Amino acid sequence: MPKLLLVGVGELGLPYLIAAKRLQASVGLVETPSRAALLRDLVDEVFPVAGTAEEQWSEAALGAAARWSPDGVLALGEPQVLAAALTAERHGLPGPSLGAAVVSRNKALQRAVFAAAGLPQPAFTVTERLGAAADWAAERLPVVVKPLSSSGSSGVELVPDGAAWADAVGRRDGEGRLLVESAVTGPEFSWEGLVRDGRVLLGNVTEKETGPAPYFVEVAHRVGTAAPAAVTAGQHLGRQVVEALGMRTGIVHLEFRLTADGPAIIEVAVRTPGDSIMDAVGLVHGLDLYEAVVRLALGLPTPAVERARQLRCSASLFPTAAPGRVVAVHGTADLRGRPGVARVHVGVRPGDAVGPVRCSADRPAAVLVEAADPESLEKAVADVRATLLIETEPIL
Ligand SMILES: Nc1ncnc2c1ncn2[C@@H]1O[C@H](COP(=O)(O)OP(=O)(O)OP(=O)(O)O)[C@@H](O)[C@H]1O
Ligand SMILES: [Mg+2]
Repeated sequence: MPKLLLVGVGELGLPYLIAAKRLQASVGLVETPSRAALLRDLVDEVFPVAGTAEEQWSEAALGAAARWSPDGVLALGEPQVLAAALTAERHGLPGPSLGAAVVSRNKALQRAVFAAAGLPQPAFTVTERLGAAADWAAERLPVVVKPLSSSGSSGVELVPDGAAWADAVGRRDGEGRLLVESAVTGPEFSWEGLVRDGRVLLGNVTEKETGPAPYFVEVAHRVGTAAPAAVTAGQHLGRQVVEALGMRTGIVHLEFRLTADGPAIIEVAVRTPGDSIMDAVGLVHGLDLYEAVVRLALGLPTPAVERARQLRCSASLFPTAAPGRVVAVHGTADLRGRPGVARVHVGVRPGDAVGPVRCSADRPAAVLVEAADPESLEKAVADVRATLLIETEPIL
């Protein structure tokens, strides 16, 4: 029975746990005691982590591996990526490589590595204090300001002009080290790659729809719909990024914009994407992507991945609501009964306050749909948006 060490299961990790069990793997879970308690019956061993700092995840994962000798180690979230990569390295297990994990954790390191490899990306500068980058930014406005190691779009801000720059400096000068980039324009995509020993087994291009500036929070992901030119550019860039990172084994999630001059890298992560992209890509390829990732981590064969073809289209949607107090949620049951609707989740109830969507966690609902072709998918997307309505009233 293969042994899988899961470093942090988080809120999205259940499908991985189920996939591991289906493969009859024994699962050891490194988790906080409170979260582990909820999953105690589903796992074979629990290794508690003393806190949620990256160093503490590493301490717990390395300790667990020393005692339990797993055949594979897998991290799902950002704070656990380094812990799992360190553990894989020490124990000779499949993994993205320590170098790829380190680079994945830091957007400024990504810029350095991609610049050296000659890959297309925005102009950038790293600054210890936002105000110190004023001259650099003035020549390149609009720019984007972002933390080096964050996710969920938190702290990512488009600065369109000089007045907005002064405002941003006023608010963020004391924030410490930041990355400032030229803002590139063009539609945005992601590329999901399943990789074994540096070879891409499956690459997928997803169309990303973001909400309004300045926060760019994702409101939809469409799989199986991208135009051929975008697919070709994404597949090529994905392979270049895998090589530049020194990525060995696992899943890569790359984000890029397709500008008038070709693709420009936004960022990359050597871990599972969020936003139900795993489910959306799985639906399109008739694959359990979670199982594929577990198989890669355990060094098991992945014949279904190698055979996979694009069969249909899918979309992961995040309906929004006007800021205010929720009066009613309409259309949930109606949607659930419709063909092609794979999942509907609404995270707010009447009486709850809904704020403006500044980061992914602010989004009040999530829906997953599938369709035979891009045209039918667009109809399904419009249908979801017209049916699921979160009615709010202003908070006075
Ligand atoms: N240089 C840039 N030019 C244009 N748009 C950008 C740039 N940098 C970031 N963005 C936009 O901001 C979004 C969030 O930025 P980024 O991916 O770097 O942050 P994040 O916190 O990791 O976000 P998430 O976890 O939501 O992917 C991007 O998806 C993109 O839409
Ligand atoms: Mg991103």
